[in-house]
Amino acid sequence: MEPRSDPSRGTTWSMLEQHANTLIKHPLSELLQDEARNASLLIDGAELCADFSRMQVTAETLDLLIKFAEDRELGNAIEALLSGAMVNNTEGRAALHTALRDPAAPTEVRDELQKFLDYADAVRSGERRGSTDEAFRTVINIGIGGSDLGPRFAVAALRHAGGDTAPDVRFVAALDGIELRTALADADPATTLFIICSKTFTTLETLTNARGARRWLADALGEDAIPAHFAAVSVNAAAMDEFGVGADARFAMWDWVGGRYSLWSPVGLSIAMAIGSENFRSLLAGAHAMDTHFREAPLRENIPVLHGLLAVWQQNFTGRNQRLVLPYDERLRLLPEYLQQLWMESLGKSVRKNGAAVRYRTGASLWGSGGSPAQHSFAQWLHQGSAETVVDYVGTANGLSDDDAEAHLQSLANMLAQAEVLARGSMPDSGDEALRAHRAHPGNRPSTILLLPELTPATLGMLLAVYEHSVYVQSVMWGINPFDQFGVEQGKAVARERAAELAGDSAKLTGIARRIRDWRD
Ligand code: F6P
Repeated sequence: MEPRSDPSRGTTWSMLEQHANTLIKHPLSELLQDEARNASLLIDGAELCADFSRMQVTAETLDLLIKFAEDRELGNAIEALLSGAMVNNTEGRAALHTALRDPAAPTEVRDELQKFLDYADAVRSGERRGSTDEAFRTVINIGIGGSDLGPRFAVAALRHAGGDTAPDVRFVAALDGIELRTALADADPATTLFIICSKTFTTLETLTNARGARRWLADALGEDAIPAHFAAVSVNAAAMDEFGVGADARFAMWDWVGGRYSLWSPVGLSIAMAIGSENFRSLLAGAHAMDTHFREAPLRENIPVLHGLLAVWQQNFTGRNQRLVLPYDERLRLLPEYLQQLWMESLGKSVRKNGAAVRYRTGASLWGSGGSPAQHSFAQWLHQGSAETVVDYVGTANGLSDDDAEAHLQSLANMLAQAEVLARGSMPDSGDEALRAHRAHPGNRPSTILLLPELTPATLGMLLAVYEHSVYVQSVMWGINPFDQFGVEQGKAVARERAAELAGDSAKLTGIARRIRDWRD
């Protein structure tokens, strides 16, 4: 099923390299003059619109990239993903996060969805109460990585859809205790519900925070209160038993859902608490609409396919190996943090699926922040610095409230202006020559705009599915497995050794470890 060959040894790769050399002579300022070209790069899919016109590509580039995709059997690879083939070859699993949002999902998946949504609604309505018979007002999700970033982001993005009955949903991930302390500072144990979210239920950070939360709760309300105040999402039933999670407050995960693809599963329980079951179902429906577009649209009109192919183009043929994500809607502020795991844990690989070392660059680094504040922070570096970067601007045509309509329009105008200046550049036409050089914007810096009509659970689902599938497309082009993450294991093992040393005989410590110990003693 997988093409076994090294993609960089094929003739299409060489043709793309040659083409990139030719295109250097045609900067974006020139390409953007061709209105027909620009119009052909404005792509609609589900309710999203993607503007790829500020990527340094022509019709020929796209023809070559589509040919490359066909060489790599991308169509078959998409079908393999969506139909549950064993695409995660190193762990011997399918990657069926798309099944979680498919109305035709297997009964077991639909039943679990109904179960956790019912639970969330019961908490929201006050039907489900704490040990002192008070309704929950604070919900604290304890998890890390995929068990934190997706829900944390989605709750921040969609809190506005939650209505008056929504509890205050908070997140705790970091190991050192400060985030937990902050989350608990003004919380009342009697009205606080914890969700321990851990696929494995063995993750050090999550277990440390969960034990801290358990102590806090038991100290205030007694051991007997634990089952009423803890829910959990995991594949590890024995660990949930040991912790004391009640049978009716535990929700299943499946090993065919990777952590960073899991917000659609019961890992999304905290999202459902914040926005309610109906909105959660809309989130799933939006993602499913994008899955359908991904499966059915021709490659040339397929938003995730083009996004992924153009990422490969930038990474391997134009040498731009960073991606910035800049949302121009403050509710999407955590999008870059969420995408960092999705993109970099998935594409941070240097061997192909067959174990052979890659001879080309794989995933770009990804970072970003809210677009508007970024203009007064690192935008200078973007416009006049020497690094090679691609930007994804993400905007919503309509903002949160009519009261802010004017401010939102200004914000969108700034997004367009940033993309335009990056692409076209500018040169002051008069003045001292040296000063003109300082003030010049070189331009020719590519970007994409992803536009949503407004931020709803459904459009958010579509946006996230675009990125999930773009990542998959890139992995197929590079022949790597995006669904494992062995690179995070070694650090965990060494941390256990260092922890034992730091707590042991100080005479055996040297260097900075000795200094840590000296300053702690
Ligand atoms: O960082 C590694 C990782 O395995 C992620 O892929 C995952 O999302 C995270 O740890 C948390 O794992 P768990 O849900 O098992 O606690």
